[in-house]
Amino acid sequence: MPPRLLVSLLIAGLALPALASEPQPDSPAVEQRVDSLLHKLTLEQKVALIGGSDGFDIRAMPSIGLPALGMSDGPYGVRVGAPSNAYAGGIALAASWDPVLARRVGVAMGRDARARGISFLLGPGVNIYRAPQNGRNMEYYGEDPYLAGRTAVGLIDGVQSQGVVATIKHFAANNSEYDRRQINSVIAPRPLHEIYLRAFEMAVKQGHVGAVMSSYNQLDGEYTAENKNLVSGILKHDWGFDGLFMSDWGAVDDGLKAFRAGLDLEMPAADKMQPALVLSGLRDGTLSRVELDDKVRRILRTAVRFGFLDRPQRDLAQPLFDAANDRVALDSARESLVLLKNARHLLPLDAGAIRTIAVIGPDAYPGYATAGGSSHIDTFRTESILGGIVDHLGQRVRVLYDRGLPSPDTVFKRDGFATAEGQPGLQRQTFDNSDFRGTPTATAVDAHVDQWKPELWTTPAAQRRSIRWSGRYVAPQAGRYLFLTAAASADSYTLYVDGKAVITQPKREGQAPLYAALDLKAEQVVSVRLDYLPDVDYSRMGLGVVPVDDLISPAALKMASMADAAVVAVGFDPTSESEAFDRTFALPWGQEALIEAVAKANSKTVVTVTSGGGYATANWLDQVPALLQNWYPGQEGGRAVAEVLFGARSPEGKLPISFERRWQDNPTHDYYDAPPHPPGTHPTVDYGEGLFVGYRWYTSHPDKPQPLFPFGYGLSYTTFAFSGLEVRPAKAHDGDSVQVSFEVRNTGTRAAAEVAQVYVSDPSATVERPERELKAFEKVNLAPGQSRRVTLTLDRRAFAYYDPEGNDWKVDPGRFVIRVGDASDHTPLAADLTMEKAP
Ligand code: BGC
Repeated sequence: MPPRLLVSLLIAGLALPALASEPQPDSPAVEQRVDSLLHKLTLEQKVALIGGSDGFDIRAMPSIGLPALGMSDGPYGVRVGAPSNAYAGGIALAASWDPVLARRVGVAMGRDARARGISFLLGPGVNIYRAPQNGRNMEYYGEDPYLAGRTAVGLIDGVQSQGVVATIKHFAANNSEYDRRQINSVIAPRPLHEIYLRAFEMAVKQGHVGAVMSSYNQLDGEYTAENKNLVSGILKHDWGFDGLFMSDWGAVDDGLKAFRAGLDLEMPAADKMQPALVLSGLRDGTLSRVELDDKVRRILRTAVRFGFLDRPQRDLAQPLFDAANDRVALDSARESLVLLKNARHLLPLDAGAIRTIAVIGPDAYPGYATAGGSSHIDTFRTESILGGIVDHLGQRVRVLYDRGLPSPDTVFKRDGFATAEGQPGLQRQTFDNSDFRGTPTATAVDAHVDQWKPELWTTPAAQRRSIRWSGRYVAPQAGRYLFLTAAASADSYTLYVDGKAVITQPKREGQAPLYAALDLKAEQVVSVRLDYLPDVDYSRMGLGVVPVDDLISPAALKMASMADAAVVAVGFDPTSESEAFDRTFALPWGQEALIEAVAKANSKTVVTVTSGGGYATANWLDQVPALLQNWYPGQEGGRAVAEVLFGARSPEGKLPISFERRWQDNPTHDYYDAPPHPPGTHPTVDYGEGLFVGYRWYTSHPDKPQPLFPFGYGLSYTTFAFSGLEVRPAKAHDGDSVQVSFEVRNTGTRAAAEVAQVYVSDPSATVERPERELKAFEKVNLAPGQSRRVTLTLDRRAFAYYDPEGNDWKVDPGRFVIRVGDASDHTPLAADLTMEKAP
């Protein structure tokens, strides 16, 4: 480029287009450069490097040309540098069963990161789905480690191809959010390796992921950032991981232990691996300088390999928001939607025959591209389900909209409380201590308790206060009443009605709105007392009462009855499903009643649900003909939902989870909540279901209640047939690759995609094994009448189990069965294979 042009480009503030940014593979040249950089650092500089800075950075070391390296969450897109782009991430991406799509999403996220100068993407997350309540299920890839691993490898490859480090998290055994910083997960070696570590292993060995993040919980009694067996043993030694292992934000408890266990970088700062502590340990020989050098090498190696010393990470030529990435967001949403029920072929709706459609429900507008917590993204734009339907139908069809249910804020603003003196509202007393002791420092009457602010991660107030609201509620007529409460973050409270605690929110990291339903007589007066302990020095509490009969908007029901079809969009949102707390199995308050009422008003009612996993359906599913699972679908979700509802596309997502009828049917049910534990000890969760998570349990126990919708299931607008299974060689030796080939035919009348799933059974195993396990899959796009022969390869791991004694993977000789089909419980093809010992 002529120098003058270069100068004028620079003056114009334009960066040159990025040079090739694929990470360099490990090589002697990389190691030499790392060594020479390392040797230029003083001991103090090395120690400074192993603690983060400015909340999200690896510290700059200008003396060796290392710039600050910025990090950003997370699994749905690049959060830092908002507004940004949100893709169908986590469980939605897994529901596409399409690693090629995952790679495209990864490339788009990599571009978004480069546009913002971000060097590390804090994702993907591959913790296994055990229970629908886990507040972070939406960030993860479902219940099967192989599906999670394949999806993660695709995403990582895409992100890293743009010169951005992917960070796989949360290593490991973080499978619930309640008490996440306290929980001690206890897992036997086989499930640990076969279920909970497998996707991480694939990310390291096949995805060559650049970074790994710890979890908050303990594993077998040790915090995972400090668990030497996990970090130095399994991750670094056994798997050969040579990238960097960072802590989750504030996850270190004992800095010296973390140092020795193999933690390379404490985030967001060296709070526990404090420089003074580490330096004194290095000087007196209780900490090893070789280990320090290894940590610094890993940081430098990552920086060298990804080119961070050789180019500005921010690439101004990358658009912050462009049609190409928006298209990826749309495609990811399209592939993720799972049609769960479609009685009498109600869907697709015939847009030509519909004049009026009613769109009802709290999740219809606004659109929830992402849920709550660190994966939440503020987007340039999010297409809501309402917006998607309106855009799709244009002016041909009238779209009537109503939220259907009041928002929590509306409930908090309802009248009905009175003080003892008969004034409207509740008496507030504020105490300057945390146990409502002594004389209140302030008293007042609040017309409403309506300060709810759904915040996470605020700084605790230095001066503890407690606030009590008291008064009474008079029921205007006989009926059922919902008492709704909501606070935020680590606030806690108890609501008493007539002296009885009806809602208690213990002090935990995060909060979801809660409710109690009480039957009251006409004119019944109940006393109300709300004892609230804010974690900050202001109130963010909401309290309100609403008669159940008033919950559902009469306008919504009228619209439903006037319309040719109704769409009810319900589910969770960032305030009710989030990192830092668990959610309910039941849909949020009022939603079941809304579904039932709309379904009564219009027999052509389609329910579409925003959630990170399963939920209770027993009370309403038989009343509605169609159910679409839309997860958190990213910024173009509404558009994709409309396309499926009106048949512009066939749904093609498949469940990456088993969707239970009742929570009790889930094999994890008895092992999810930590039993009571003595004060000062950690709540312990014993993963008693062992290997039998999700479909591994259901298919092994056909006599037990089966899931409502099995793993791998999802309806289409066309039909497919499988035939001609061949397994080669039919007699294999341990270590051989096995080819599985079969034909998939589109036997229906429209183009669509099917996901062919290959499950392996090991009936002659010498150890207990699940009846079947997913070991290969492929998404196949077929025109009507078209068929394709699919050939997939099973490697040794497809037949192996983890042998704790040898710390290795073992294949038992004997018979294996290979099954092929379109869901974990529907595998029309089966063939035997005999495995012999390696010659
Ligand atoms: C989350 C991580 C996230 C980090 C930084 C933590 O609270 O657990 O997943 O990457 O914050 O935002």
